[in-house]
Amino acid sequence: MQHRIVGKPLDRVDGRLKVTGEAAYTADVSIDNLVYGVIFQSAIAKGKVIQIDISAAVIAPGVVDIITYEQTPSLVKIPFFSPQQPQPTEKDDNIYYDGQHLGIVVAQTLEQAQTAASLVKIICEEASPTVTMAQAEVFEPESIFFGIMPGKITRGDVESGKTHADILMEQVYTTPMEHHNPLETSATIAMWEGDNLTLYETTQGISSTQRGICAVLNIPPENVRVISKYLGGGFGCKALLKSHTILAAIAARQVKRPVKVVLMRSQMYTSCGYRSQTQQHLTLGATKDGKLTVITHIGTSFTSPFDDFVEAVGAATTMMYACPNLEVKYRLARINASTPTFMRAPGEAPGMFALESAMDELAYTLNLDPIELRLRNHADIDPHTGLAWSSKSLKQCYQQGAEIFGWSKRNPVPRSMRDEHFLIGWGMASATFPSHAGPASVKVEIFATGEVRVQSGTQDIGTGTYTVMTQVAAEALGLSSQSVQFELGDSNLPKAPVTGNSITVGSVSPAVHKAASAARVKMIQMAITDSNSPLYGSQLDDITVESGQIFLRQDPSKRDNYTDILHRHGLKSLEVTEESSPNPESKQYSKHSFGAIFVEVAVDELLGEIKIRRCVGVYSAGRILNFKTARSQVVGGITWGIGMALMEKTVMDTNQGRIVGANLSDYLIPVHADIPNMEVQFVEEHDSVVNALGTKSLGELPIVGVAAAISNAVYHATGKRIRDLPITPDKLL
Ligand code: MOS
Repeated sequence: MQHRIVGKPLDRVDGRLKVTGEAAYTADVSIDNLVYGVIFQSAIAKGKVIQIDISAAVIAPGVVDIITYEQTPSLVKIPFFSPQQPQPTEKDDNIYYDGQHLGIVVAQTLEQAQTAASLVKIICEEASPTVTMAQAEVFEPESIFFGIMPGKITRGDVESGKTHADILMEQVYTTPMEHHNPLETSATIAMWEGDNLTLYETTQGISSTQRGICAVLNIPPENVRVISKYLGGGFGCKALLKSHTILAAIAARQVKRPVKVVLMRSQMYTSCGYRSQTQQHLTLGATKDGKLTVITHIGTSFTSPFDDFVEAVGAATTMMYACPNLEVKYRLARINASTPTFMRAPGEAPGMFALESAMDELAYTLNLDPIELRLRNHADIDPHTGLAWSSKSLKQCYQQGAEIFGWSKRNPVPRSMRDEHFLIGWGMASATFPSHAGPASVKVEIFATGEVRVQSGTQDIGTGTYTVMTQVAAEALGLSSQSVQFELGDSNLPKAPVTGNSITVGSVSPAVHKAASAARVKMIQMAITDSNSPLYGSQLDDITVESGQIFLRQDPSKRDNYTDILHRHGLKSLEVTEESSPNPESKQYSKHSFGAIFVEVAVDELLGEIKIRRCVGVYSAGRILNFKTARSQVVGGITWGIGMALMEKTVMDTNQGRIVGANLSDYLIPVHADIPNMEVQFVEEHDSVVNALGTKSLGELPIVGVAAAISNAVYHATGKRIRDLPITPDKLL
């Protein structure tokens, strides 16, 4: 099939609206009669609430009402993964973590609400919190993610794998707590009309938010509408229902006016989850010729006192290399912190830092090129499930990346390359991410006026959903991308999955393709059965559609078009709704995206400062729907990887259990000056298994491996192996 629109680097269809400020993000939505909510929180990490004294706050100017945790369902215990479960409604006086939501002040203006919130006196009985892994109760969960995955994964015989190893390496790798830091802080506008609730919400999942709020407030789904038209970044922290949303809804019901809650930047550090610190024990055993005989990967991460969330660091370890003997195991340390959550490539990002660092260490021990070591252990089939890959082009990614980077010129000896007082290092690593998908529905309407509207209850979290779905619809309908309007972000639209786990393109684009193709066929059928159409009596297969013209391939002068067909039939519009689900045969395959990342670092020998000079990333993720938005995803992912490698770290005060520096000036993320020129390439694949369009996951793939590639480059530059992120100058001096 020739693609005229799909694949092209079309500019974002919402780009103009965004740069002109016309795109209304959640907090921008203008609502009459609005009042403002400010949440007040616990300032200790462990203890009990004795009393919440609102006497001064309630008489402050502009205050409409104050609602405390005693009047709400238990806000701390929102199950992180299954909000469809009914909530405990008993009040809970316990303080489990610093920043725990204890209530909300509603006032006429934001400033009045903030002032009044500062006057709420929270009297607590304080206890000494558990803050570090060393202090914590550590346990091995039997299953993770509420039973969908086992807590321990094994294959072969680990002991025999160790016996057959000529070289056995055992190391501990650690990564810190990290926060998502989306530019747009989380926000809700809650509005009741009778029993019906409308939520304007910063969310990656309008339907999951709808389900969650229905469970918590015990109301039927048809009474709740969730709207999220634009999102200023999510990265996982807006994937699941959070307590500010519930508080806004409860407050709006109580004050009988729409309530807006916008979290402050500092509140983002305690209210929306985080990536847990990890401690990873990794063992690699190999023969002298570099064949892996055993891998064990044991990951310990934090969870909250009341919920279990695992940072699944071994997710990629199980499938990355052809190794017969393996054990992956998770341990959880309960501390006084909120429940961690998904953060861009949860599991894979910290896990592949460990695995891909260890592979580099093994390559040095064996005196092998790191790419050669990876090729010797290349998994031709999924080593864990034994299934064939739906597609895999990792070898091409290594090869193309090495060629562009100039890897063959690398002298592997550490400290062998210099540029004045800079030590130069080259490092590489692999990337991988699973390619999942879910069912999605799409409605296509072609109007007699010429307008074409395509709708799905999916989300655009900044990734380009509006744009690529417009392209897919336009192509299937034989229209230009300008003549198609794609709408999303409203739970009244046909259902689509949460935008997480990099599943949106793979779930929604096949549904768009299916519905748009069905609408086109319906239109052609109307023409060929209509004696007034120039196409009357033609065969469906002989007809094509281009630029809105429906014509006979053999004789393009015989033509009709959508609006004429509708007019002749006396119809205002034609409407088609289709659902698509992952093809059941695709279960017979293992579906993953892959990539390879190469970096050059320059390390200032005296200061320990690390500069990333250049990087090359080559990725294979099936068909690319739009090279421009796809490249942007990769540039964003690699930038995140650079931040993870060199800067990002959330610090908790180990005495008080409070997050120190909950702001964007203390929490370091890269700025433009930190980011080098990036060369991004795709190895395009024709994957006929995954879906009708052949797309695989992309959004989370490019953060994976970056931290290892940088750490490997730092070793090459300096001879120092840093196994603890971030790699800050003090660790090199
Ligand atoms: Mo992503 S961390 O699955 O929102």
